[in-house]
Amino acid sequence: MNYGCGSSVHPRDLVNQPTIANVGVGGGMELLQFSYFSRRKGSIIGIDIVPEMLEASKYNFKIAEATNEWFHQDFIDLKKGSALDLPPENESVDIAAQNCLFNIFKTTELKQALCEMYRVPKPHGRLILSDPICENHIPEFLRNDNQLRAICISGSLPLNEYIQLITEVGFGTVESKKTLSHTVTLQL
Ligand SMILES: C[S@@+](CC[C@H](N)C(=O)[O-])C[C@H]1O[C@@H](n2cnc3c(N)ncnc32)[C@H](O)[C@@H]1O
Repeated sequence: MNYGCGSSVHPRDLVNQPTIANVGVGGGMELLQFSYFSRRKGSIIGIDIVPEMLEASKYNFKIAEATNEWFHQDFIDLKKGSALDLPPENESVDIAAQNCLFNIFKTTELKQALCEMYRVPKPHGRLILSDPICENHIPEFLRNDNQLRAICISGSLPLNEYIQLITEVGFGTVESKKTLSHTVTLQL
């Protein structure tokens, strides 16, 4: 079950068995991938606001444990919670990560979500994001369409604006890894 865009899982970021908080878990695929690198009880904290997604992840982890010798379900600690009020304590994780959730937020919520992602990593910790971005501004009437936002089409920001918001909450060096080009045609 992959509801993401791109990937927030890069082996180079995942050395020394990091503790990772991942918000917006979907079916749990990236939690499994993070587990591969950390392999410690409770090292991967998966947070989602929708109980059905947490249940779907739990179900997938059972199958994963039965089919992968290296994987144990207890590597992952699933928590119900919001990106706007993350359950982990201040400065308690090495990496905060999300894939394809923050683009559904409008600016005020996005700023709050980024503040939360700044609050939970330890000093010198990192934020890893994977989101759709756009080349030009998306017209307001499309940005305000909740259905298009919910399917991760109309909430995107241009990369420089997204980076501006990320640095405004306090993050230092920002690295943009890779972008894949897609054209989205909307029939109105
Ligand atoms: C597009 S899916 C991405 C799933 C996953 N990251 C992946 O790569 O497959 C967005 C996820 O964010 C969750 N979500 C939506 N609003 C949220 C919020 N305010 N706080 C936490 N999770 C949220 C949804 O339930 C869903 O599981």
